[in-house]
Amino acid sequence: MSDNSNVSWFEVSLGALQNNIRNLRLLLTNQKFGAVLKANAYGHGLQTVLQAVHADVDIFFVVLVSDGKKIREYELTRGIERKRIVVIGSIVEAEIEDLIDYELEAAIADDSWIESIKKLRFLKKKIKAHVFLESGLYREGFEGRDITVRYDFLKHALDVIEPIAAYSHFANTEDVTEQAYAKAQIKKFHDGVKILSDMLEVPNKLELHFAASAAAMLLPESRLDIARFGIALYGYWPSQETRLSSFLQVGGVQGKSTVELEACLSWKCKSQLIKLVQNGSYVGYGCTYKCTKPTFIAIFPVGYFDGYPRACTAKAHVLIENTRCPVIGRVMMNHIIVDATCVPEIEKKKEVIAVLLGQNGQEVFENSSASADSITVEMFSSWAQTIPYEIVARFPGHLIRKLVS
Ligand SMILES: Cc1ncc(COP(=O)(O)O)c(C=O)c1O
Repeated sequence: MSDNSNVSWFEVSLGALQNNIRNLRLLLTNQKFGAVLKANAYGHGLQTVLQAVHADVDIFFVVLVSDGKKIREYELTRGIERKRIVVIGSIVEAEIEDLIDYELEAAIADDSWIESIKKLRFLKKKIKAHVFLESGLYREGFEGRDITVRYDFLKHALDVIEPIAAYSHFANTEDVTEQAYAKAQIKKFHDGVKILSDMLEVPNKLELHFAASAAAMLLPESRLDIARFGIALYGYWPSQETRLSSFLQVGGVQGKSTVELEACLSWKCKSQLIKLVQNGSYVGYGCTYKCTKPTFIAIFPVGYFDGYPRACTAKAHVLIENTRCPVIGRVMMNHIIVDATCVPEIEKKKEVIAVLLGQNGQEVFENSSASADSITVEMFSSWAQTIPYEIVARFPGHLIRKLVS
């Protein structure tokens, strides 16, 4: 590491991302492959992920207009094909010119478009829109008769807004192993599409999209025209329920029992300091950990500022040279402290590199041939009592991301 070598860094696996796309594409027939790159590409780094996936994706979904601009700039500087980009976050009037200049498609998911429509007319420009239909998540969009009432403004704005697609989002596909609610959502969505199409009298059939990762894996009827892959693209299962359901589905994908996903992220950190502390010493804020033996502690300059959740206190471990070592004492803003006593020849070492997340070769257990050589996002989320989505989305922008093969 040349720069910032005293902080932690991420390694994003090009091969894993590309394998995930290849394997997820096996689920699709004619549908487009959508990649959801919101939240800095789920914490993996927008630029880094783009380098790995741009060529293999049909359409990108972002929340921020600024992320859409970054994708266009990426394409421009490399002189590569311009892919479709849809901004699924809310858009304010001040961003309208960017939508036009950068050829971004817009989601319309509420009725706050009055000022933006005025701006489009002033500019004499037209945008392509994906209209969100409520189907049961009760987050955005409208359903039933409300479509003709609250989206009525669209009927009068067809000179500047061209509705090309309708879409929705599932509420609980990843929380359950039976999909009755999702199937009811699909039905409601198709009813809504009919109402919207009749109201707008659009000349071409609207493009339809609904499925995120879990639904795309489990519900063929949800794949429609575009599947929007987020978490699965990066190699994580949306939940254990999704994984189990996929496993139980007869037939699987091309003879396999589940979709093969490969976690693409590793997180590493070089120690700042290693030292021996005496039996009986207290380690970390709150003196919550007391050494019960002379202990070699390794201090790592990574903490909750960097996305290492404080809730991992007293639960987490790291891998150092094939040895699993517990994080002791509280996780701090900029530091964690690790009991590195079991690392071979630790007394001779000035520094070590810890794998905070990811693989570290073959882990060797004392007196055992068993191995468990990785720290997964799922482990992190169980330590922190959250979900993989939150763990990765909270990895902050200041950390280095490197694309590795
Ligand atoms: C509208 C929408 N589509 C797709 C996704 C991707 O979901 P997943 O990460 O479960 O694939 C999200 C993520 O929250 C979303 O909000």
